[in-house]
Amino acid sequence: MFNKDLFRKKSIAQLTDDATLTEHENPDKLNKHLRARDLTVLGIAAIIGAGIFSTIGKASSMGGPGVIFLFIFTALACSFAAFAYAEFASIVPVSGSAYTYSYVAFGELFAWIIGWALIMEYAIGNITVAISWSDYFTSLINNTTPWHIPEWLTMDFKSARNEFHTIQNQLIANNANLDALSKNVDYAGSVDGYFAWLNAPRIGNFAIVFDLPAILITFLITALVYRGIKESQRATNAFVLIKVIVVITVIIVGSFYVNTENWDPFLPNGLSGLLGGVSSVFFAYIGFDAISTTAEECVNPQEDMPKGIMTSIIICTILYVLVALVITGMVSYKELNVGDPLAYVFDKFSSLKWLSNVIAVSAVVAIASVMIVYQLGQPRIWLTMSRDGLLPKAFSRIHPKFRTPSFATIVTGLMVGIPTLFLDLSFVIDVCSLGTLFAFVLVCAGVLKLDAMENPPARKFKTPYLNGKFVVPISFLILLFCLFFYLPDWTNDFFSMNHFMEKIPMFIFFILYIVVSVLSFKYSFSSIPVFGLLSCFYMMAQLHITNWIWFSIWLIIGLIIYFTFSRYHSKLAVGNITH
Ligand code: ALA
Repeated sequence: MFNKDLFRKKSIAQLTDDATLTEHENPDKLNKHLRARDLTVLGIAAIIGAGIFSTIGKASSMGGPGVIFLFIFTALACSFAAFAYAEFASIVPVSGSAYTYSYVAFGELFAWIIGWALIMEYAIGNITVAISWSDYFTSLINNTTPWHIPEWLTMDFKSARNEFHTIQNQLIANNANLDALSKNVDYAGSVDGYFAWLNAPRIGNFAIVFDLPAILITFLITALVYRGIKESQRATNAFVLIKVIVVITVIIVGSFYVNTENWDPFLPNGLSGLLGGVSSVFFAYIGFDAISTTAEECVNPQEDMPKGIMTSIIICTILYVLVALVITGMVSYKELNVGDPLAYVFDKFSSLKWLSNVIAVSAVVAIASVMIVYQLGQPRIWLTMSRDGLLPKAFSRIHPKFRTPSFATIVTGLMVGIPTLFLDLSFVIDVCSLGTLFAFVLVCAGVLKLDAMENPPARKFKTPYLNGKFVVPISFLILLFCLFFYLPDWTNDFFSMNHFMEKIPMFIFFILYIVVSVLSFKYSFSSIPVFGLLSCFYMMAQLHITNWIWFSIWLIIGLIIYFTFSRYHSKLAVGNITH
């Protein structure tokens, strides 16, 4: 079962052949017209969305104003990984993203694993985006129109049930009243869930609670991308401008209402509080990798790709850091655990209420634009995998009139829409971030693997080389030094073996760091991909072990499909091309 076939690789020549398919065979093939500036715009279109408008609230409520450090760290990690993406994109200028890259570097099995993990980024990520969209949409309708969407139609079942019990406990145990609880920063966020559960229609004992707006927007956007990519791209470009203007307005207007006392303490919950927001912050950066899938349409991918990716990451980081400072300065960080934090903080000031509604309208538009990007991306990855024979042929079926991957688009719609019925936001953010980080780790490792090849393929863009022979091992020693001398409590607790299960990801991280240090010393690895790999893995290690277990189950299901179906249907298996 485990033979070298598992590592059969797609050759660069084969990919180039794919890239030269005729328009009829490859209806999505576009002219080479993109330059660095267009790529930056595309990057911002894919990056800015639910993260800055929504999940930033959760991260700020955990980390306080110091969440900016997490934004900066994450930007660095993403930039390291971005070099790896740009490098691969310059060798393999075709669609398919990390999936295609790993087919070249590692072979089929890894490519399959990455393609499978990317479902977490695109489809599961879009569940997060749909839920955040629903939060803004609901508050917009409730605040600006005479209608009120019943709470049981605006959230998932599990959150409603948990929030009901949280409030119920307060009402019974502490004799609190609802009015007081809705003004208490610790409980205000749970009051909607209480009403959702209380007022939900029931079939027997089963409460009917689901997120109607999230499902509706998913189906609407699925219909749009089913209809045609060109229309959708035009719409996306128009949205970029709107969202950047709104974010800049939030920063400028909000800065006049900052009360610097809210910044004290800057890190109220210490390092552990800060790291609790890892997945929410990382989620805000997801999307830059999607730019690399447009390499085929770039005039000069080797120069423009890294420029475009880096510029969009830098612009987004500046905006994120400033927004985080403004919102944590306008209200106490404790209040920010809401689905629509930007509209929420402006709504707190009577003179800014009008702006709160403008923000909510723009958020509804901006978040929908991000959904389009991912709802387009997922079917195209499946299309590539299906053309390679790893997925059933239906996934590469092209609609005769709209020339879009019709079946894959519908499956994506269902895969995003249905889970919004029962998955809660925290879970989907964590699992999406875990899957995406996993893909980043493998792409960084892929660059190291290419470097180590005897005859590496020609790369038109090469990550700047900083010899890691000493840099990487020394960085590990510095980390140990800091842990023992600056964080002795954390270090003692870590090695105490209490709650061992929860510490497993961090143990794996340390082992990986040691292994990579030794290999860097031996093979003089390039430092940038090494630090990309380590920093992304570090973020993975911050996510709870339960998310790792879910992700592992997901991977196991993927492997079962690979070993029972894909391996035998692969184009490479039937001898169509050289192994
Ligand atoms: N970065 C994307 C967003 O924030 C996923 O919506």
